[in-house]
Amino acid sequence: MKDLATGTSHAKIILIGEHGVVYGQPAIALPISTIQMQAIIHRRDAAQTVKSRYFNGDFKMMSANLGGIQTLIRTLLARFDAPEQGFDIHITSDIPSERGMGSSAAAAVAVTRAFYDFFDRPLSHQELLATANVAESYTHGQPSGLDVATASAKSPVWFVKGRENFPIPVKLPGYLVIADTGIESQTKVAVATVRNLLMVEGATIQARIDDLGRLTRQTRTALEDGDMGALATALNGAQDDLRSMGVSHPALEQLLAVARQNGALAAKLTGSGQGGCLIALAPEASIANQLSQKLAAAGATATWVEPLLCDD
Ligand code: MEV
Repeated sequence: MKDLATGTSHAKIILIGEHGVVYGQPAIALPISTIQMQAIIHRRDAAQTVKSRYFNGDFKMMSANLGGIQTLIRTLLARFDAPEQGFDIHITSDIPSERGMGSSAAAAVAVTRAFYDFFDRPLSHQELLATANVAESYTHGQPSGLDVATASAKSPVWFVKGRENFPIPVKLPGYLVIADTGIESQTKVAVATVRNLLMVEGATIQARIDDLGRLTRQTRTALEDGDMGALATALNGAQDDLRSMGVSHPALEQLLAVARQNGALAAKLTGSGQGGCLIALAPEASIANQLSQKLAAAGATATWVEPLLCDD
């Protein structure tokens, strides 16, 4: 066991396919490696403490909304046969929470990596995903696993629930502006909204879910072929589907309109919706920076500009 151990992870956004992915359709997610999360563990004799932006104290006293991380830590201590091992874990994050940027999944990935480092054990990618999803299942009910897969990935991920996910090539030199409405987005609530609508309206909502799958496949081809027009059509089409599925929000729609009026080729919500963040597609960096300023002036509480092409 080490005296000092660390685990890191990063934010993610879903480019396309959110909500469809819950029903077996594919989704594409992008890691945002510049927005980071870190967990640092110091070995202690007896006390077991957690320090984070939401909680500071004995890990057994963590509040219900942090039950996912608490359950994860308990699982990890049991796995390493050390339920009473003293530790002090400090979680720091640049990722806004409840905004569809994968904050809870990133915390689960960073904590899992930190404890494996603490107990000096190797951690396979499959084991990381399965372990971090212990926290996600507690927090979100029945998550697709997409957030955890992307919080630990280095390139855009093609994701189908229950199947192996894999990196996909991108040959498109565009930019995404990510803008935060400042409104919390609760994955569990948004997923339940779609499930209820599907029960009530059946075929109409199923058609939207199928369409999200079609548009996600179109997006993959567009990324591989460098076809900006086809990408824009797919992203705008996905927003139409998501709106019909009850997961948009007036604040999102207002900022989406601002984006489209100011040079965005396409704009859609990202993540679970009903608040949270949107993404806008810009053909070049100067337009992306301009868009970012316009969105901030129109009320976005934070904005980020990300190239579609990864550095590595
Ligand atoms: C949330 O980030 C993405 C959803 O598709 C839910 C999930 O995949 O678990 C809305």
